[in-house]
Amino acid sequence: MRMPKVIDTDYLVIGSGLAGLYFAAHASEHGRVTIITKRGLRDGTTFLAQAGIASVLGDDDSFETHIADTLTTGAGLCNENAVRLTVESGPERIKDLMDNFGVQFSEHSDGRLDLGLEGGHTRRRVAHIQDFTGEGLMFKLENAVRSNPKITILENTMAVDLLSNAKYGKSNSVFGAFILDRNTNTIDTVIAKATVIASGGAGKVYIYTSNPDTSNGDGIAIAYRAGAEVENMEFYQFHPTCLYHPSAKSFLISEALRGEGGILRRADGTAFMNSYHDMAELAPRDVVARAIDTELKKSGDDSVFLDMTHLDGDFLTKRFPNISRKLLEFGIDMTKVPIPVVPAAHYCCGGIKVDDSGRTNIPNLYAIGEASHTGLHGACRMASNSLLEALVYAYRAAQEVKNSTLERPQEIIPWKSGHAVSSDEGVVVSHNWDEIRRTMWNYVGIVRTDKRLSRAKARIDLIRDEIRNYYWNFLVTPELLELRNLALVADLIVYGAQRRHESRGLHFNMDHPHRSEFYHRNTLLFRGVGPSHS
Ligand code: SIN
Repeated sequence: MRMPKVIDTDYLVIGSGLAGLYFAAHASEHGRVTIITKRGLRDGTTFLAQAGIASVLGDDDSFETHIADTLTTGAGLCNENAVRLTVESGPERIKDLMDNFGVQFSEHSDGRLDLGLEGGHTRRRVAHIQDFTGEGLMFKLENAVRSNPKITILENTMAVDLLSNAKYGKSNSVFGAFILDRNTNTIDTVIAKATVIASGGAGKVYIYTSNPDTSNGDGIAIAYRAGAEVENMEFYQFHPTCLYHPSAKSFLISEALRGEGGILRRADGTAFMNSYHDMAELAPRDVVARAIDTELKKSGDDSVFLDMTHLDGDFLTKRFPNISRKLLEFGIDMTKVPIPVVPAAHYCCGGIKVDDSGRTNIPNLYAIGEASHTGLHGACRMASNSLLEALVYAYRAAQEVKNSTLERPQEIIPWKSGHAVSSDEGVVVSHNWDEIRRTMWNYVGIVRTDKRLSRAKARIDLIRDEIRNYYWNFLVTPELLELRNLALVADLIVYGAQRRHESRGLHFNMDHPHRSEFYHRNTLLFRGVGPSHS
């Protein structure tokens, strides 16, 4: 532990994925930026993104077609203005990446972009860097931010809570955050004109997830605690195809494989997607994940199989070098044998409610990327629309923050660490963590019922009570902060799911199996209307 410090900056960015870094690069044109990230710069979800960025780039495509596909996949809950804004801004953002950040997307031999196809899309429109798009993007953006003298990067640093003028008897506006330096276990204070949450999703709330260990909804939780509005948390997306292997930790098998002709088969070799949807393997993700779930429950098998063996082997290894290599490490040659796959939690379609410039309901607090809810995805996100959304809203927020002015109290009340006794009960944290993730998987997964949701709520309530006592009695640790955030996010998901008595997009409840006009609306949660924030 060292003496706490106060850091002054113009824009504080919490999170270091595509949205955070792209915002930082653009916002640095008119101010100083401080990025905090709880592990290394590359430890977020973007780095793992395989498929790419959806945008209207092909001769046979149009804005209207991309908009229509997004609306259909979103099952009636997309905000049409957000969809139009995002889709129409796409080509300009892609050009910015190529011209100003040096991103090189995969191309055909004649120099045209090689566009991928994924579920829900009726045209090829996914710009990609083979099958490691996220890694390729992060490499370029990391170079841009690390070499920019106006950007400071604090790794191993996590947000504890936002600083709000409401604590000083004024109207609620945010002026920075308390942050935990994990290297020294010190809580510092950052003062900023604008605070931007870009901390990604919350896949770790489920036991099986394609997300990295960092994705536990920290940003959504701290924003909710500060009074931000949060929407549609019940729409958690499960990716249909993650590798089923004891040591693979839900390695993603990109939807782009189905875009190139992959076929989903039962263990006995029969293809089944045609009996679930006209678009078969390329149906929206909620349909494919539910179909796989149904097949597994019927057969009792551990996995279904994605068959690529009918496609040219050279093509597969060139188009999917990352996935081919990884599969070979597990002894699976996808050119010869079908790949065992199962669904896993993948993307948070809800999040912190924002307007078309990433502004939340709290002055000087912004949210971008997966932590935000712009209305683009509705009840089910169309594949590869999210990296596009991250770029569009990060850019717009970077223009908007120019107008922020710092409002802060004269004296800031420093962070107080409860009774500050060092915890020797780390095991309690990990037990609670496991229990939340299992509860969510078992009761708040792909298929839900009223009873399962009530069970989940009762368990999450108990755990949150325990954390409340624990949290205030012991020295704050990163694990405890993450647990507290994870439990709140789980509560937000369950709370939203319990209030939607219908089935729509990613929320499927067997007790209410149909779509209902009454629920043709967003689920808005905030302190007072939603789970307890403490
Ligand atoms: C994938 O590669 O299948 C993931 C793409 C996405 O989630 O948008």
